[in-house]
Amino acid sequence: MEAVGKEEISVEDEAVDKTIFRDCSQIAFYRRQKQHLSKNTSYRALLDSVTTGEDSTKFQITNEANKIPLLVEVYSIERNIFRLKINEETPLKPRYEVLDVITSKLNTVRLSSCSGDTGSLILADGKGDLKYHISANPFMIDLVSEKEVVMSINSLGQLYFEHLQSSPYKQSATGGNEESASADSCQENQEDLGLWKEKFGNFVDVKANGPSSIGLDFSLHGFEHLYGIPQHAESHQLKNTRDGDAYRLYNLDVYGYQIHDKMGIYGSVPYLLAHKLGRTIGIFWLNASETLVEINMEPAAEYTLTEVGPTAAKQKVRSRTDVRWMSESGIIDVFLLTGPTPSDVFKQYSYLTGTQAMPPLFSLGYHQCRWNYEDEQDVKAVDAGFDEHDIPYDVLWLDIEHTEGKKYFTWDKTRFPNPTQMQELLRSKRRKLVVISDPHIKIDPDYSIYATAKEQGFFVRNPEGGDFEGICWPGPSSYLDFTNPKVRKWYSSLFAFSVYQGSTDILFVWNDMNEPSVFRGPELTMQKNVIHYGNWEHRELHNIYGLYQQMATAEGLIQRSKGKERPFVLSRSFFAGSQKYGAVWTGDNTAEWSYLKISIPMLLTLSICGIAFCGADVGGFIGNPEAELLVRWYQAGAYQPFFRGHATMNTKRREPWLFGEEHTRLIREAIRERYTLMPYLYSLFYHAHVASEPVMRPLWVEFPNELETFGVEDEYMLGSALLAHPVTEPKATTVDVFLPGSNEIWYDFKTFAHWEGGGTVKIPVALDTIPVFQRGGSVIPIKTTVGRSTGWMVDSPYGLRVALSTKDSAVGELYLDDGHSFQYLHQKQFLHRKFLFSSSVLINSCADERGNYPSKCVVEKILILGLRKKPLSVTTHSPDGKDQPVVFVYCDRTSTLKLEKLSLNIGADWKVHIK
Ligand code: GLC
Repeated sequence: MEAVGKEEISVEDEAVDKTIFRDCSQIAFYRRQKQHLSKNTSYRALLDSVTTGEDSTKFQITNEANKIPLLVEVYSIERNIFRLKINEETPLKPRYEVLDVITSKLNTVRLSSCSGDTGSLILADGKGDLKYHISANPFMIDLVSEKEVVMSINSLGQLYFEHLQSSPYKQSATGGNEESASADSCQENQEDLGLWKEKFGNFVDVKANGPSSIGLDFSLHGFEHLYGIPQHAESHQLKNTRDGDAYRLYNLDVYGYQIHDKMGIYGSVPYLLAHKLGRTIGIFWLNASETLVEINMEPAAEYTLTEVGPTAAKQKVRSRTDVRWMSESGIIDVFLLTGPTPSDVFKQYSYLTGTQAMPPLFSLGYHQCRWNYEDEQDVKAVDAGFDEHDIPYDVLWLDIEHTEGKKYFTWDKTRFPNPTQMQELLRSKRRKLVVISDPHIKIDPDYSIYATAKEQGFFVRNPEGGDFEGICWPGPSSYLDFTNPKVRKWYSSLFAFSVYQGSTDILFVWNDMNEPSVFRGPELTMQKNVIHYGNWEHRELHNIYGLYQQMATAEGLIQRSKGKERPFVLSRSFFAGSQKYGAVWTGDNTAEWSYLKISIPMLLTLSICGIAFCGADVGGFIGNPEAELLVRWYQAGAYQPFFRGHATMNTKRREPWLFGEEHTRLIREAIRERYTLMPYLYSLFYHAHVASEPVMRPLWVEFPNELETFGVEDEYMLGSALLAHPVTEPKATTVDVFLPGSNEIWYDFKTFAHWEGGGTVKIPVALDTIPVFQRGGSVIPIKTTVGRSTGWMVDSPYGLRVALSTKDSAVGELYLDDGHSFQYLHQKQFLHRKFLFSSSVLINSCADERGNYPSKCVVEKILILGLRKKPLSVTTHSPDGKDQPVVFVYCDRTSTLKLEKLSLNIGADWKVHIK
């Protein structure tokens, strides 16, 4: 029962050993699917089997080779979403279908079948805007929107479906499969097809259900720019996979992952977006087993719509991208999101999987983490260090060493004898604590959580029966089966204050190692044939395991507050829909410039796939960053959604004040800028929560009609008003910033210098420069004074940054509530204000009449950028009062107007007239 020692950990500190992980050629279902291609056995739709019901239209397809019918179900879902399900009509036993991701009952639109001939069928949605042209032989589907073929399905004939068969092997007494003399096994041995057994190194995956792989191709017409399918340490724009490995979606613990690599790391969202001028679409492949995605860009191809009666038309399309999805198991269940705008696609995806949970305000502050803060003294000293150095922060984190022998929900009694008192200290500073809770449970009969889970049968089981045992931080461990609703309910109950000794309401949670990580397992994870609730093999649901833990943890935090308080849970592993439960981060990155750089595309990809609350370990987890890198990382992190400094155990201490006065000052400045921006950031999260808009956005999302933005990934928008281009090169003296939009005007956030959009500008940078630009036409609410944490800033005054457009106008918003409870939802206790500057008047008005939240806060300063001439007078006007003259300062050089010492209530209607 030895805990895993530090020696074992430091072995991992080497660069990632890729031989631990499989590449595509080592994945049997991939080899089988590739081999099948050469056989060219296509499917045929049996159109005389078509039935149209309220929800869906169904028909059979068969393959000449095996003649086993598959059932196709076509759904049209409100908001222009199309769903295609393909399953065996009568499988030997049910195949796994992903539950708990799709948020609610989807409203379907009845499809009507219009013309078509004997060889085809045309289905139209209610409005007739979208049509599905189904050709019978070979079976394929064209998705047509207003005469444009947007996408074709199975036009390359790569539909692949391994139907379940009975085993040609007889079961051995030890539970393994012994070969019989069947022809199949002979073929398998010869061709290494891995049908019933697959070897990787010393590991053998025995497949009780045999081969069950599926695959399908999608041709996207006119699309050359694809994004999504996190998580990979890769560029934002997906690359052609023709000459190398496919993108792999398989949640794995890859310490110090290699960058520019398509191997699967901690999380998977099987969802991609494609964008071209005039249209954005999405493909959401709802499957939780190991998945591979091939991308093949075909420039300047010509595409002909299959002849389907009078509407037939020949189309020439400039280019085409083929996407091929392959999964190890499950069914084909795919949602096609037809846009047409990026924001339509975001809404369509969140209609299916939910929006970002509204985070508590504190969680948008700066988080200080380290593996490990050693003891209560250490916590106290680090906490005091922030105050001494006048650096705001909100949350201190405790890693695995805070527990007794890596038994989660316990405290190491020597290092943390008084956890409640420690939390009271943090509370008195209006700060919070986050502690880690991993899914592996130390095998120790005296550990009550282990004992109960064992007794209740709450662990993942071996195929032979008995609890699965693997090695993780505590040494031998069993793994909670979070796919079981009963286990989740019980796990949630462990967070009750009365159960979790030493926890208080300022304690929040971090779920780590939940891919799940199993140190000596195949690819450092669980073998695929272990058994979950419902008798499902791990292979069916591997990628969704982590989501279930985060779901149960978030629910536990909500329940401990009797439903009143918002949870905060950070998870390393994730799946489609994880956004509903909290935040994610990019795992064990390295303290190198290249990792700082890649963090931007990695976060952009997560952001457009629904996971708005994401971040990368500031400073890089592994290794020791030089001061310059650390400063640059803080500057980037300050403008990213989740902002946490973290470092592994054998690194030098790196609290912000340990790098000399000058670097401390620079880090302080960066963190303070974050706190200044808090009202804007919080409002963006509200938008992510209610309107599915990512907080951090690639430029193409804001400028979908500008080709130049489609490949940009060294800069991004924070909301629609700020453009950030963090410095990611050492010793930089300039950066080339692309400022999009030919009718736009951009203002340097600090110097107020301005540029017209539509070109690249060279910006000189010193170590204190964070290249951030405000878009003309926007109003950004800020805080004018920064406190020790967000909690200190609740009543502090606001400022407004008004940046005028080329038409001398600007708009912006502020969302405000208590920052921690659900009252904004249930009692509509919130303020939503709108700021409009037009015809030389700035108006503060209500943006949402449903909300009501009294705030004493005032707008104290207003800065107007781009005001062409010095005003004669400035007056404020409120509906109940008289006009009040305001003292102002106008700067000719920068064309800025400063109004200070104002006292305008943030929640009241008022106007500022500039004459
Ligand atoms: C994993 C996590 C890391 C954490 C460590 C110890 O490596 O990714 O953030 O510090 O485990 O819990």
